Amino acid sequence: MPAISCSAPGKVILCGEHAVVYGAPAIALPVFQVSTTVKITAKPLAPSSSNTIKAPSISLDGSLDSLEPDNPLRAAINLVMRELKIDHIPACEISIHTTMPVSAGLGSSASVTVALVRAISTYLGHPFDNDRVNHIAFEIEKLHHGSPSGIDNTVITYGAPVFFQRGKPIEFIKIFHPLTLIIADTGIKGSTASAVAQVRQRWEIDRDGYEAIFREIGQLTLQIRRDLETGLLDEIGPLLTRNHELLQRIGVSNLALDQLVNAAMQAGALGAKLSGGGLGGNIIVLANPEQAQQIAQRLLISGATRTIITLIPSTDGAC
Ligand code: PMV
Repeated sequence: MPAISCSAPGKVILCGEHAVVYGAPAIALPVFQVSTTVKITAKPLAPSSSNTIKAPSISLDGSLDSLEPDNPLRAAINLVMRELKIDHIPACEISIHTTMPVSAGLGSSASVTVALVRAISTYLGHPFDNDRVNHIAFEIEKLHHGSPSGIDNTVITYGAPVFFQRGKPIEFIKIFHPLTLIIADTGIKGSTASAVAQVRQRWEIDRDGYEAIFREIGQLTLQIRRDLETGLLDEIGPLLTRNHELLQRIGVSNLALDQLVNAAMQAGALGAKLSGGGLGGNIIVLANPEQAQQIAQRLLISGATRTIITLIPSTDGAC
């Protein structure tokens, strides 16, 4: 039996992070320059259920059974088995390779889960469709992040630009004009769970103030969606930068993120903001394609540890 190989991309949040946890909409985009690949190789001669798992990025190399039941990798596999009413996996080696840094806001945890669920369900002879993959990936995101909104698993599962609002059906958005984004890493690991918890503590103290900020972020997101759909890219830049200011006000930016945002703007970006949980991780920069290289260079000089230039292609909003 040939090895099975399944992949999933990374993602960035274009706008609306944090506010999305409180019911505002957010937009997330898939990033195909980073990805996870899970390869499963059957070991027909090995004793049944002697499954091994390797994930060099987290220094994991051992038997699947040695992982605790609440380990997200093991839990994802268990959920696939439960759905299929299967109580053992024929002997195999599971190998997980990701090009994504962890805790950088690129969705590494969801990307690993999505690729793993696809690979295991395929290996067991019942490849899951995206809705089923997404459902399991959301359950596993809860193990990673406490009470996630569900945006990461959704954009990564479907690999398409997503307009996301908690409790509402997923909407795939139309992108009229391709978008050039630069993703620049501060090199500081930001914990999304801790950023979300800190915002919640401050929201408890000043609900009215925070709700007003979340409302403004929600309005920005709606406007950005309209501009994406009509191709008014120049209008989007200032809205992204305003979103960054509002994220500063809820306390999830830091000096490193602000410095990169300022450097991008000085280098001629259309707009820039932190992306994801904050307190580290990445900024995203909207740029004219011909200026992207030069802005990325400036970001590296200003302290970014890595930059990715990504083109978000036009889409018709169908998925
Ligand atoms: O840090 P990331 O890229 O996984 O993004 C988290 C986005 C938040 O809105 C802060 C949390 C959430 O679950 O939506």
